[in-house]
Amino acid sequence: MTGITLNRPRLHFTPRTGWMNDPNGLVRIGETYHLFYQYFPDGLRHGPMHWGHATSSDLAEWQEGPIALSPDASGQCFSGSAVPVGTGDLAEEIDAPAGGALVFFTAHLDHDDGSALETQHLAIADQTLTEFTRWPGNPVVPNSGARDFRDPKVFWHAESGHWIMLIAEGQRIAIYRSPDALKWELASAFGETHGIHREHPWECPDLVPLRLAGTSRQVWMMIVGIGEGHPGGGSGTQLFFGDFDGTSFTNHYPAETIHMMDWGRDFYAVQSFAGISGADPLVIGWMSNWDYAKQLPGTEFLGAMSLPRRLRAIETQAGPKLVQRVDEVVASRFDKLGLVIGESARPASGTYRLDLRADLALGDRAELSLFGNPAPLFRVERIADGFTVTSLRHEELDQAGRGAFAHEYSTQIETDGPFICEVFVDNGFVEIGCLEGRHWFSTVHLPATPAGAVSWR
Ligand code: FRU
Repeated sequence: MTGITLNRPRLHFTPRTGWMNDPNGLVRIGETYHLFYQYFPDGLRHGPMHWGHATSSDLAEWQEGPIALSPDASGQCFSGSAVPVGTGDLAEEIDAPAGGALVFFTAHLDHDDGSALETQHLAIADQTLTEFTRWPGNPVVPNSGARDFRDPKVFWHAESGHWIMLIAEGQRIAIYRSPDALKWELASAFGETHGIHREHPWECPDLVPLRLAGTSRQVWMMIVGIGEGHPGGGSGTQLFFGDFDGTSFTNHYPAETIHMMDWGRDFYAVQSFAGISGADPLVIGWMSNWDYAKQLPGTEFLGAMSLPRRLRAIETQAGPKLVQRVDEVVASRFDKLGLVIGESARPASGTYRLDLRADLALGDRAELSLFGNPAPLFRVERIADGFTVTSLRHEELDQAGRGAFAHEYSTQIETDGPFICEVFVDNGFVEIGCLEGRHWFSTVHLPATPAGAVSWR
């Protein structure tokens, strides 16, 4: 296919120009949400990594600001996180202003012989989060000996009175702790024998407590990026549910149980916001996949964020499961398009939302087509104990990536109820949440007519 381009979405954040991957340093300070991101301003490729910066008061409209961090002699600025000053205890030497933030990121230094060194650095941000002072004693966590040792996610664990830093270290997640955000020690590691492992290292860990709906209990959920091994191909986000005692994480499920945060191929490097304590965790992911991210046909920008999602858990017979809902304010900005099964409709713009339902008999199917293309990109079939759901993508890329862009693959959802889902469409960026947010499929498309006809039949 020729002439296809990545359209600019309206409610998914994109930088004005340049390359973007992971969300970094997500934090709310006062009434402002800060979104930093892996950024290369000078081209549509993964070049020397900076941290870009955007702010929002409602998660729907973002203002892009000046670049926050740029590469220096210590290397590129790879992914990391931020915490508001005032969240926990700080070493006396740290002179951080109230209303500012501490930022932890990976300095990635490439050597001429092809090897690289990854260490964890601290920078202190002023109240506007635009002026950063790098800690003179960097790195705060030296390299452990692992080639891949990155993406520090830091939070204050009040119960144990310590800061926790998760670091993706090869094929596991190292858990460090600190009383003062400066002196860090390794507490434990998780993952070597759990979940999906391929050659590519694990990346971008996070650990959040989730409310178990209808109970007064909570469960801890670890989020891990897998560079390859998504059931649909390429990178994806896996989850583990368990306990965290301030030192180590214990998986509640058998080690081989696989939970994907999203069954679509474009939801990676997911991070939760700091600074919203008391509320349900709020996350944003990068809507792409390392299989083909660099080959997407962008003209001004390359890379988009997912819609922000709020998380909670439900208890099922098998154990806790995640429920994700698009933030309500953001969801309300989509035009609502009514559509019942058997119908088609013409949206007024490329940014709209559908609530779909299908009461299917055993063996029956329903198919969703978008963008005026009659070939379905989402198919549901009733099976004995639920549904087989198939994601299809028809666009081909002129590609030198690791895996194909076009795809067709299926997964199964257990339920005895009808099939219901909400579909958010934003100029080719499609996020589908099934059964009240229990199974998500997020996929990037390259439609020639983003506001083309929709059908559900
Ligand atoms: C994940 C990732 C991170 C790394 C960053 C580099 O997408 O590979 O592990 O810090 O991207 O841009």
